[in-house]
Amino acid sequence: MSVGVIILAAGKGTRMKTDRAKVLHEACGRTLLGWTLEASASLDPAEIVVVVGHESKQVVAALPKTATAVKQKPQNGTGHATQIGLDACTQSHDTVVVLPGDMPLLRAETLENLVAAHHRANAAATVLTVVLDDPSGYGRIIRDGESIASIVEERDTTTEQQSVREVNTSVYVFRGDLLSDALGEVGSDNDQGEQYLTDVVAVLVGGGHTVAGFVAAEEEGFGVNSQGQLAEAAAMLRRRINTAFLDAGVWMLDPSRVYIDADVVVAPGALIYPDTYLTGETSIAAGAVIGPSVQMNDSTIGEGSTVVNSVVNGATIGAGASVGPYTFLRPGAVLKDGAKAGAHVEIKNSEIGARSKVPHLSYIGDATIGEDSNIGAATVTVNYDGFTKSRTTIGDRVMIGSDSMLIAPVTIEDDAATGAGSVITNDVPEGSLGIERGVQRNIADYSERRRRREEGKSD
Ligand code: UD1
Ligand code: CA
Repeated sequence: MSVGVIILAAGKGTRMKTDRAKVLHEACGRTLLGWTLEASASLDPAEIVVVVGHESKQVVAALPKTATAVKQKPQNGTGHATQIGLDACTQSHDTVVVLPGDMPLLRAETLENLVAAHHRANAAATVLTVVLDDPSGYGRIIRDGESIASIVEERDTTTEQQSVREVNTSVYVFRGDLLSDALGEVGSDNDQGEQYLTDVVAVLVGGGHTVAGFVAAEEEGFGVNSQGQLAEAAAMLRRRINTAFLDAGVWMLDPSRVYIDADVVVAPGALIYPDTYLTGETSIAAGAVIGPSVQMNDSTIGEGSTVVNSVVNGATIGAGASVGPYTFLRPGAVLKDGAKAGAHVEIKNSEIGARSKVPHLSYIGDATIGEDSNIGAATVTVNYDGFTKSRTTIGDRVMIGSDSMLIAPVTIEDDAATGAGSVITNDVPEGSLGIERGVQRNIADYSERRRRREEGKSD
């Protein structure tokens, strides 16, 4: 059996009031179209065709290799769009699934159940419906017993039909051998002058075929047409994501204040405090404690590590490590097991070896630090001379004195140390102390002499 999927995404999305194509707006780190593609993939389709129109260049550029695009111009309605999608298919399909690209709450399993129900009923088409308290704006499902007789668009309803609360979600399954001919019979005799895909239902029924309905939970039919609806959809998706993690054994003090993107992995046994944002390809191991107030993107956190009040982007953190508070880890920051990056520390493109510590007020960039080393407060790896970036290499068991300026390229070998306040421009050999500092002078009675001098002025 071959399944083809046609995603309708040519519409303008005027109410979003942005320059971006509507289906490229994001909820929980994935575009609306991305959610639709992800759900569609569960059907194991032979091909996915996306019908594009407005901002089509952006949409085409965002498509994965598993989908192809076809342009609909002009946009003469959902029936016209479906025909164009069907014509773009490279083969004929037994089963054709048509759905809009702006319904991110539609679950993969619902699509699977819809297709299964369609085959069980041996129907010519099966429409995914929802029952709404307020059905206004939607196409009404007109039932004839168990089957569907027709779909009537809001503007064409009679007063009686207006009270029908079962509505069309715009998600359908069709028998592939009937769809094209049925679309051919759909006219554009309505006040928008468009070909409505919804009219295919009456055409099929008129031809003696059965059209079935499959009712889904209200949430799944939620379509995004405005920024407000985008925020609502994101909130619902977020709740779904967090519920799945809670069910799997992740602890959250307040799930309503935890923001986890679609592709993030959190292991059971991790603890997440409020105001935590986990985005991109982030992965958190068991026993890790994240938050409160952490923004983490494209990063990996090992078992039992803690990250508090910090911004972490593109970092790899081992097990039993400690980050924060107020730490900024940038791409290429690697903390090995048991390492520490403390308060007001920024680390970029650098490896901090096992059990090594950068506890306070430091900038570490383009550096390699070995194991069991300690970087004194306010140390800076001076990696940039205005033209080129250079590396700092620090060995194992090194003690960098507070306020050391390490002028790269420079190497501090194993078991070496630097004196506090030193500007280190030359390598420090193994076991040695590198110190660069003026000799201290103490001026006796300074305070007393100064006081007398000041008092003499005011006389
Ligand atoms: C459509 C249905 C309606 C249903 C509602 C659910 C029709 C005629 N009506 O109405 O029964 O209750 O969805 O939200 O189908 N599109 C194209 N090309 C076009 C026109 C639309 O690709 O020429 C795409 C849009 O981008 C969108 C989808 O088709 O993704 C639905 O179109 P839209 O204009 O939003 O239809 P509605 O009027 O909401
Ligand atoms: Ca719509």
